[in-house]
Amino acid sequence: MAKTLPSDVKDFSLAPQGKRRILWADRDMPVLAEIHRRFEKELPLRGRKISACLHVTAETANLCRCLRAGGADLVLCASNPLSTQDDVAASLVKDFGVKTFAIRGENRDTYYSHIQTACKHEPSVTIDDGADLVNSLHTDMSRYAGNVIASMEETTTGIHRLRAMEAAGVLKFPVVAVNDAQCKHLFDNRYGTGQSTIDGVIRATDFLLAGKKVVVVGYGWCGRGVATRAKGQGSTVIVCEVNPVRALEACMDGFLVMPMSQAAREGELFITLTGDINVIDRAHFAAMKQGAIVCNSGHFNVELNLPALEKLAKKINRGVRGPMVDEFVLPSGNSIYVLAEGRLVNLACAEGHPASVMDMSFAIQALSAEYAVKNAGKLSVKVHDVPAELDSYVARLKLKTMGIKIDKLTPEQKKYLASSEMGT
Ligand SMILES: NC(=O)c1ccc[n+]([C@@H]2O[C@H](COP(=O)([O-])OP(=O)(O)OC[C@H]3O[C@@H](n4cnc5c(N)ncnc54)[C@H](O)[C@@H]3O)[C@@H](O)[C@H]2O)c1
Repeated sequence: MAKTLPSDVKDFSLAPQGKRRILWADRDMPVLAEIHRRFEKELPLRGRKISACLHVTAETANLCRCLRAGGADLVLCASNPLSTQDDVAASLVKDFGVKTFAIRGENRDTYYSHIQTACKHEPSVTIDDGADLVNSLHTDMSRYAGNVIASMEETTTGIHRLRAMEAAGVLKFPVVAVNDAQCKHLFDNRYGTGQSTIDGVIRATDFLLAGKKVVVVGYGWCGRGVATRAKGQGSTVIVCEVNPVRALEACMDGFLVMPMSQAAREGELFITLTGDINVIDRAHFAAMKQGAIVCNSGHFNVELNLPALEKLAKKINRGVRGPMVDEFVLPSGNSIYVLAEGRLVNLACAEGHPASVMDMSFAIQALSAEYAVKNAGKLSVKVHDVPAELDSYVARLKLKTMGIKIDKLTPEQKKYLASSEMGT
């Protein structure tokens, strides 16, 4: 298959290892597997061209297999230059017939040329993680936007960009906000990012969390997950926030809360998860202690002001432990270590979220794609919520696969909850 299928991957000899990892992840994705089996019978995506711009991981591979089982003609490209698992990309082409364009470490030009290839596929459905594909379909590749009936968006930053396009009146097709489904952000952003971000830091640096001061910037769904896990490993966690409600929540959850100007002087490990720009800036780097480790797990590599750090540093030593650790020696003599060039540390230094949590995110993706196709031409051009029944379906099925039963409302309770008559 590899010889005939259009693709651009690093090395087909990696395919056997990729296949093993894809099938290993599959064991932990029973909800997606159930949808896969139904898709095989019902072919809800038959004849549909789908272009997906996602982190090319073993879990994504299982989403791709599910979409193909549903009848889709699929092209996959990477949603980040450093998140591709080359063995998975090779196996997707060789073993699973997915036209894949993704190479770990690809430069900006290759990254965007792969996105352009996904646009040239003339998709009627797109799946995005961060809205780079949709953005291309609205700018240089806008000639391919006409066929698109809907797009699914996987992450918070992508939803921000798409809502901004909607508000500016430039959005060309309906979008389904997969990130905003409860079965996505409550679990993927919190527990998935929480665990895999810590995993990435440890793999890259061998950092001991116990007894250390860890600064978590942003106390949203991802930040809550990272802060809780670092605390569980014995770190003193400092949270930086701009939203007063979330800052208060962090405080009452037992974390120290302070501005970055103060946290910069105290932290030993810094992790940004804001979706915002330059949250760790020049003055913060300059104030950091000797040996501080700094990384980002938000979507884009703009959260750390690395151009300013590069200017500030008197010397830069790349790859001082492995390729993902760069040392910046400041005029004070202090060294600051930056992981993964400021890109998503959990995907660049570890394997991204565990399959068990991506099971729910990608179940929502597959069901949302089916929903979009069923409602082709009926959805207005805006950012839509995932229908609530898809969330309940995925949660019910996940509980079932975990062997967990829950209670049901009695008729009396249903009536009581729907009425205002009864008091004390
Ligand atoms: N690493 C991953 O695999 C992964 C997974 C899911 C989401 N993400 C990304 O992580 C980022 C955060 O996602 P989320 O779902 O937690 O978003 P969220 O909106 O729930 O939380 C972001 C928080 O950051 C705060 N914030 C914004 N600017 C700040 C600043 N200058 N200083 C301090 N705090 C600031 C906001 O007030 C908010 O509370 C997004 O970019 C998202 O796309 C990454």
